[in-house]
Amino acid sequence: MHNHFFLKRGLSTGVALLLTLTVLLPFAFAGQPPEAGKKGILLVAFGTSEEKALPAYEGIEAAFRPALEPGEALVWAYTSNIIRTKLNRQGKKVHSVDEALDALAEQGVTDLSVQSLHIMAGEEFTKLDRLLQSNAIQHPGRFRTMRLGRPLVESMDDAQAVAKAALHAVPSARKSGDAVLFMAHGQDAGRCDMVFAGMNAVMNSIDPLAFMASVEGYQRIENIIPILKEKGVARVWIMPFMVVAGEHARNDLAGDEPDSWASLLRKEGLTVFPVLRGMGEIPGIQDVFARHAAESHDDIVNPKIKFTAE
Ligand code: CO
Repeated sequence: MHNHFFLKRGLSTGVALLLTLTVLLPFAFAGQPPEAGKKGILLVAFGTSEEKALPAYEGIEAAFRPALEPGEALVWAYTSNIIRTKLNRQGKKVHSVDEALDALAEQGVTDLSVQSLHIMAGEEFTKLDRLLQSNAIQHPGRFRTMRLGRPLVESMDDAQAVAKAALHAVPSARKSGDAVLFMAHGQDAGRCDMVFAGMNAVMNSIDPLAFMASVEGYQRIENIIPILKEKGVARVWIMPFMVVAGEHARNDLAGDEPDSWASLLRKEGLTVFPVLRGMGEIPGIQDVFARHAAESHDDIVNPKIKFTAE
């Protein structure tokens, strides 16, 4: 009798609870909908105002499109104020990084993948990293995640892939005995010279007549000319080791000015073949950038910075 009484009571309580849950649960879920999430990609480049250089950016964008579903956002930002101002005057508006982040938030992006289109983690990449961090602090909770992809030459694997892709892009009219000389931008201080020394070594191990020098920094054209002479090179293909074939490629590399690389090499009696093709136009290079975006776990809005016990 005792047991029976409690059993009956227990049953009715259970039924009542079940009924309550059936009625209330949909409301509970309605109050906290599972966050759907909208993905966005932000491509950050130095920028160019040279129309002929744009196929590089278009090629890179095409390599990123497959990562997006229809309706998801892909936005560009140029870091160069001079170039943005120049384009603005021509009625071609391009975002700064801050403006691009505003635009992506307005489009309802929750999970953002930012890809640096820099050649290496030099001055410009460091600024971008800092800028994203300070933007995230200024706008807490605006994005659920914000992953930053590393620049082009970040590892030995990258150097191998980049060297192969860049050498493959040299026109097939190149004959054996012809050298290839790549023009990197470089910078006067910082780790750039070290990265290019490594890049040059990898390039050279694949192709003994492939060389690199930079506009700024340690390894200049003046250092390469004696090596070309020593190796008995008579013809040299010159190509930008920059994402776009912009101002530097058109003037400092291939231009008619007496101090352009083409002029300096010609003065030494070499036959020069300029290749005005930005690295961003090369599919193997586009792939490295896309891979870096896909592989990035560097979430700027949820930093899990922790030194392990070791
Ligand atoms: Co420059």
